Amino acid sequence: MSVGKKRSVTTRAKPASLAAELAAESAKRAEAEAALRERDSLLAVASESHRRTETALRESEEYLRSIIELEPECVKIVSPDGRLVEMNPAGLAMLDVESLDEIRGCHLLDFVASEHRAEFIELHRRVMSGGSGQLRFLAIGRKGTRRWLETHAVPYRKGKGEIIGLLGITRDVTDRTTMQLQLQQAQKMDSVGRLAGGVAHDFNNLLTVINSTAEIALMDVKEGDALHDALTEIRTAADRAAALTRQLLAFGRKQILKPVVLDVNKVITDMHGMFQRLVGEDITLVCQTSPRLKAVLADTSQVEQVLMNLVANARDAMPEGGTLTITTANVDLDAAFAANHPSVVPGPHAMISVTDTGLGMDESTSKQIFEPFFSTKGGLGTGLGLSTVYGIVKQSNGSVWVTSAPGKGATFTIYLPQVDDSPPQIVEALVADSAMGTETILLVEDEDGVRNVARRVLASAGYKVLTAANGAEALDVLQRHDGPLELLLTDVIMPGIGGRELATRTLEIRPDMRVLFMSGYADDALGRRGVLDADTNFIGKPCTVADLTRKVRQVLDS
Ligand SMILES: Nc1ncnc2c1ncn2[C@@H]1O[C@H](COP(=O)(O)OP(=O)(O)OP(=O)(O)O)[C@@H](O)[C@H]1O
Ligand SMILES: [Mg+2]
Repeated sequence: MSVGKKRSVTTRAKPASLAAELAAESAKRAEAEAALRERDSLLAVASESHRRTETALRESEEYLRSIIELEPECVKIVSPDGRLVEMNPAGLAMLDVESLDEIRGCHLLDFVASEHRAEFIELHRRVMSGGSGQLRFLAIGRKGTRRWLETHAVPYRKGKGEIIGLLGITRDVTDRTTMQLQLQQAQKMDSVGRLAGGVAHDFNNLLTVINSTAEIALMDVKEGDALHDALTEIRTAADRAAALTRQLLAFGRKQILKPVVLDVNKVITDMHGMFQRLVGEDITLVCQTSPRLKAVLADTSQVEQVLMNLVANARDAMPEGGTLTITTANVDLDAAFAANHPSVVPGPHAMISVTDTGLGMDESTSKQIFEPFFSTKGGLGTGLGLSTVYGIVKQSNGSVWVTSAPGKGATFTIYLPQVDDSPPQIVEALVADSAMGTETILLVEDEDGVRNVARRVLASAGYKVLTAANGAEALDVLQRHDGPLELLLTDVIMPGIGGRELATRTLEIRPDMRVLFMSGYADDALGRRGVLDADTNFIGKPCTVADLTRKVRQVLDS
């Protein structure tokens, strides 16, 4: 080769002949043409593969699009100024919209609840400047449906560069969020309840002391005396305070309940006249009671109180009149319902609902209504009505729910677990405090004032109290009373039949009864005089309320 090259250089320098030159020229052209042809065919192959790539890309875009169309989560692209560019059907459904055309170009903020707009704007701003983030917010659809949505947002870039929008993936987390919020609320109510119940309980004891002391003092003051009026006022105020603390106790679930197998329909029927008077003439009262409502286990007077409070609230919500509907029904709460309603145990329940067509309330109000002292009625309400309802319903193993919207009235729904339709029977009451009880006590005391105070104290501790002014009267009560009777609480020194003799004769009639003596004489003094044995139960007078209730409980439990 190297020889030939050399030779051609020699040839160009000194051409051998024209024919040889032409031949060389044509060979060169043929070479170039072949190269061109090869390039063309290579190009043809290249453009074919390009076409195929293009088709493939188009197909994969369609494929991607169809995935996005079917994607159960919302996929959206938002313009830098927050307007909607693209959204898949799942997203449209979350906003109650059927086609993208309806809302393309709309500002997404229009679908965000006002309390979450600031965070929403902040996230958008962060993404537009290259960041990313997530947000849980309340969305309000075209038809007013409220949904909790959780969105993850990243910048949407042109190629790999300039940010031309926001790409968001959003999922509906309504069920989970509602559940969490309800749980939080229930926990809050629980702790407030414990606090209120604890304070109310101590308060109640103090009030009993104030009340009884005022009562005892009143015995020594004549009517017409200036002190008499003052003491009466103390007593009245203490009574009112006691009524308030009783409501707090109810909220704190520290009430002593006497649950019985109860027909709620009967309670409603019995109270119909009272409801009618309560709501007045401008409000139409409708009772739709299910004829075969199953019984529940609840305290009659507590259920009455619940209904009264709900009816009174409904009346207040309808100053211009309206319709108040009380409905009862048997409902089976299933696992799905329980999953969305913390504290509900699935199973058959009696539903009681109270619906009004009044002012209604917004969401932030309805979140707070069961809290003690929450009221929108200024000085006209204590804000304890619904707290009482809540406490009573909870203590009866039930639950209470509210649905309402401004201007749309309100519905309060209570679910109480059903029990078998056995004949009504008194179930043992729950004792909320160690010094309280539900037993029946026969109280014998010849001094009217002392008898009254002791009766009040014991009744406020939950006991049923029968009274007698002397031994003979007591024996009479014993003969006639055929219910349970657990304790004889008697003064020792009384005219006629004394305490000791009364006790002996009582035990002959009812050998199971306990006896507790009370006397103004010191314990050991009585012992020395041989009136009482050492193991006899005895309480000295005067005694405090706490002493008396504690001693009574102790004797009953011994
Ligand atoms: N049916 C209802 N419609 C609209 N708002 C209601 C309704 N029931 C209760 N509320 C709201 O709940 C608040 C709390 O009610 P709650 O019964 O606990 O207290 P109150 O009625 O204000 O006072 P009280 O019951 O001591 O008279 C009310 O102040 C009111 O704002
Ligand atoms: Mg009320």
